Amino acid sequence: MLRMVVCVSGGGTNLGAIFEAMDKGIIRDAEICEVISNNKNAYALTRAAERNVSAKCVSPKDFENREAFNEALLKEIDSVNPDLVVLAGFLVNVPEIIIRKYKNRIINIHPSLIPSFCGKGYYGLKVHEGVLARGVKVTGATVHFVDEGIDTGKILCQKAVYVEDGDTPEVLQRRVMEQAEWQILPEIIGKIARKEIKIGDQ
Ligand code: GRF
Repeated sequence: MLRMVVCVSGGGTNLGAIFEAMDKGIIRDAEICEVISNNKNAYALTRAAERNVSAKCVSPKDFENREAFNEALLKEIDSVNPDLVVLAGFLVNVPEIIIRKYKNRIINIHPSLIPSFCGKGYYGLKVHEGVLARGVKVTGATVHFVDEGIDTGKILCQKAVYVEDGDTPEVLQRRVMEQAEWQILPEIIGKIARKEIKIGDQ
């Protein structure tokens, strides 16, 4: 049974897609042991509670400094003893102490085709604003391992989505979520659970 922790910051639509994939059998032999958010108001925490999954907030605001927050986040993740950490709309730069301890056991969904429109400053709507400003005709989403960089880890899956005339950042974000993010993140988790993708020591 693959034990997962899912880290969130906002609406949790990617978390919702994981739950639905588990209901449909796209993800088997896996369980979400805990959902952790840096934002106490994240609707993603409500989604977890509705599914009777442990939902915890570990917020930087509750700690004297960043180091104390980082330690607390690591302690919370360790307390669950996960095989896999899933970043699903998590807007915190994961500290090195966690990346080192969970090397090749942390995956992230990014709403563009890495290496385009990623890295520092590219998150949420800002990604789609960049896509529209550049005028690219195709965007999409990427699932990748998390390493010490920002959106620089090994790419595991990508799915392309067409940009359409008249798209606003909000309309494009929704299409990328529906047509790419909510498909490929559950797909990759399913493959990891079936051991079709190796995690940990490579
Ligand atoms: C989405 O744009 C997702 O691509 C990014 O965070 C945003 C919110 O995701 N990673 P969610 O609805 O909280 O899953």
